[in-house]
Amino acid sequence: MSMDYNGKVVAITGGARGIGLAMARAFHKAGAKIALADLEGAAEAAVEFSGYGAHVDVTDEAQIESFVKMVTSTLGPIDVFVSNAGILRVDAPSWDAAGADDAAWQASFEVNVMGAVRSARQVWPGMKANGGGVFVLVASAAGLLAQIGASSYTATKHAAVSFAESLSIAHGDEGLQVVCVCPQAVRTDMLGDSEDGGIAGADGIVEPADVAHEMMAAIEEKRFLALPHASVAGYENARASQRDRWLGGMRKFRRVVVEQRGRPV
Ligand SMILES: NC(=O)c1ccc[n+]([C@@H]2O[C@H](COP(=O)([O-])OP(=O)(O)OC[C@H]3O[C@@H](n4cnc5c(N)ncnc54)[C@H](O)[C@@H]3O)[C@@H](O)[C@H]2O)c1
Repeated sequence: MSMDYNGKVVAITGGARGIGLAMARAFHKAGAKIALADLEGAAEAAVEFSGYGAHVDVTDEAQIESFVKMVTSTLGPIDVFVSNAGILRVDAPSWDAAGADDAAWQASFEVNVMGAVRSARQVWPGMKANGGGVFVLVASAAGLLAQIGASSYTATKHAAVSFAESLSIAHGDEGLQVVCVCPQAVRTDMLGDSEDGGIAGADGIVEPADVAHEMMAAIEEKRFLALPHASVAGYENARASQRDRWLGGMRKFRRVVVEQRGRPV
């Protein structure tokens, strides 16, 4: 049993490739009209769906605003908004926890946190006027746990998860359904040159289509968390209930990776 998306309008940031594009395919297959926003390739990618695609930098709210207006006027009011655009900066070159420079931290905050905040600011009023909608935030398992060797990614993804919770708390009673997607390694450009997904690949690398499938299931089942790697629920539980043990386990994990590769990722 799958939800009927016929005639529904779905807008996706970072939608030209990777997880965002796979989600677009899943929604399109279910009957939805698709709008894609990305730094490059959105219009080209949207051709597959006879949809709408535009250049949008989610760090610039005016660009999100005009995207939302254009989508609404060309396809109709937005039913589902997926805030998926994200960036990963590692703690190189020193691999100290504070090793990444301010520019890396600030860029991560701008895209991974403010991209979602500004999207919600632009899209929620229209959804509310329309009786509600769905806001999907693609965070990461790093937002529930930690990504070793990428402390700016970890911190901003934790902030993204908490913002998704705030959205649900503030607007859940007003018709907003929030889904927060928290995968470990997914086979996309974000994995870079790491064949096994590094530390995030410890439980295997899933395909973007698997993430899309789990997200659709979470919408259907009215679940806040979409966990393409089921093991993440247990890790989160262990982190919450046995924090020192969990930190010890993460230190051990880091040691092993450093011994194998000479760096923690
Ligand atoms: N690949 C993984 O292992 C993994 C795991 C957990 C979470 N995620 C998250 O999934 C989301 C999608 O990433 P992906 O794996 O498909 O990687 P990706 O790099 O293929 O896709 C990210 C997309 O976001 C876009 N983007 C980046 N900055 C942007 C900006 N300022 N404005 C608009 N678009 C911007 C990129 O152009 C790209 O199309 C990200 O939020 C990422 O953090 C990925």
